Amino acid sequence: MAATVTPSMPAVRNELPPGPRTPRPLQTARWIARPAAFMDEAARRYGDMFTLRITHEGTWVFVSHPDAVKQVFTGDPRLLHAGEANIVLLPVLGGNSVLLLDDDAHMAQRKLMLPPFHGKRMRGYEHTMADVAARQIEGWPVAEPVPSWPAMQAITLEVILRTVFGVTEAGRLERLGSALRDSLNWASQPRTMAQLALLGARRISERGTLRKALDPTDALIYEEIRARRDAPDLAERDDVLSLLLQARHEDGSPMSDEELRDELMTLLLAGHETSATALAWALDALTHHPAALERLRDEIDAGGDAYLDAVVKETLRLRPVIALVLRRLVEPMEIGGRMLPAGVNVAPCIYLLHRRPDVYDDPRAFRPERFLEQPPATYTWIPFGGGVRRCLGASFAQFEIKVVLRELVARLDIRAARAEPERRIRRAIVFAPHRGGEVVVTRRAAATEKLAA
Ligand code: HEM
Repeated sequence: MAATVTPSMPAVRNELPPGPRTPRPLQTARWIARPAAFMDEAARRYGDMFTLRITHEGTWVFVSHPDAVKQVFTGDPRLLHAGEANIVLLPVLGGNSVLLLDDDAHMAQRKLMLPPFHGKRMRGYEHTMADVAARQIEGWPVAEPVPSWPAMQAITLEVILRTVFGVTEAGRLERLGSALRDSLNWASQPRTMAQLALLGARRISERGTLRKALDPTDALIYEEIRARRDAPDLAERDDVLSLLLQARHEDGSPMSDEELRDELMTLLLAGHETSATALAWALDALTHHPAALERLRDEIDAGGDAYLDAVVKETLRLRPVIALVLRRLVEPMEIGGRMLPAGVNVAPCIYLLHRRPDVYDDPRAFRPERFLEQPPATYTWIPFGGGVRRCLGASFAQFEIKVVLRELVARLDIRAARAEPERRIRRAIVFAPHRGGEVVVTRRAAATEKLAA
């Protein structure tokens, strides 16, 4: 697949890497309006490491050389804070969220949450994921262009409510689903974002408008937690909430209701829009590469899944949902041959690393075969970040995307709505297709017959 990367680190230099000299507000405006073009241009001009200055976010040092990315992901987490860099999520997620913690508190919470997300456990969710997808597909309009993203979002939300929250009763699913949608919509409104920028995350957390937007959802989540604590079948259940209720801190104490609420919100926020967006990108890529779609369909009809796995990996490489991850330096640290000062945010850049020609042959081409020839490597394929902060739901997400794609391809003939693949736009923190992954579908005769039998 890849040409090997030659070590090319310069001798240690005691200064920030170069970057655009334009004023901070201008850099911020470009970052918000056209992040991909901005990153491409900066990489072209300044190389493997460059500095951007973003309003309210401080100084970001982008790194995209695999050696520097490895240095960040394997560096001492006490000096590389990710939680601090995510503070903007505090109002919605709450102070116990694994995404917002650092140091021992982060590791303690992560240890409790890792076992429910172990790769092998995902098989148990396969039927639920496939059922949810199949029902959603039933309702799809045929023979007209439809954005796939809203349907993917509905699937991934219901999958999380069923497998993570463990809710199965239709009325409860509906109530909790719509309350969560309202809260997330409120949180991603431009007005809320503007208030956040003006007042900062901590002050927003104390305001009445926040409580008004989140209290109804929180009440339903606490109701669910309390009911589940007393469920007679708790020990036999396999949803994530039931497993977390049985987990114990090192001192033997159970997780509190507040901890559980914050982690459920975290899993929902981190896990549903990201997976839905990756699915929409997969459809966009496949429908614009008919040979890949045909190969996938033949494989799925024959009951295989190696190519499906490669399609998912290639989608996450070429169209990563998250462009970068952040680590705030607690002390000065040498990275990529430069001594960086405390306080800067180092940003291993997923987007740029995945498009390096010295790592991937023909990096801008959608070619799932590359991952059949060689599996992805830890520091060159990083859609889920890395090190002790690597995405807790990486196995969950890849498994879910595969199950949903399999249902879609087995049941539908899918083609592109337009000749050109979609551009990226930024939706809150994800890179999404600008038309929502538009496709035209018709039901497959073979699938209809098989389902009727
Ligand atoms: C395609 C789907 C997804 C993508 C691309 C994605 C990507 C990421 C990334 C880039 C990070 C930050 C890693 C870092 O800082 O090094 C992250 C963290 C996280 N993700 Fe995901 N994610 C996805 C799906 C999910 C799902 C389905 C869940 C759970 C249900 C989940 C839960 C989390 C959690 C809890 C963290 C915080 C981990 C920590 O700070 O220790 N994610 N994810």
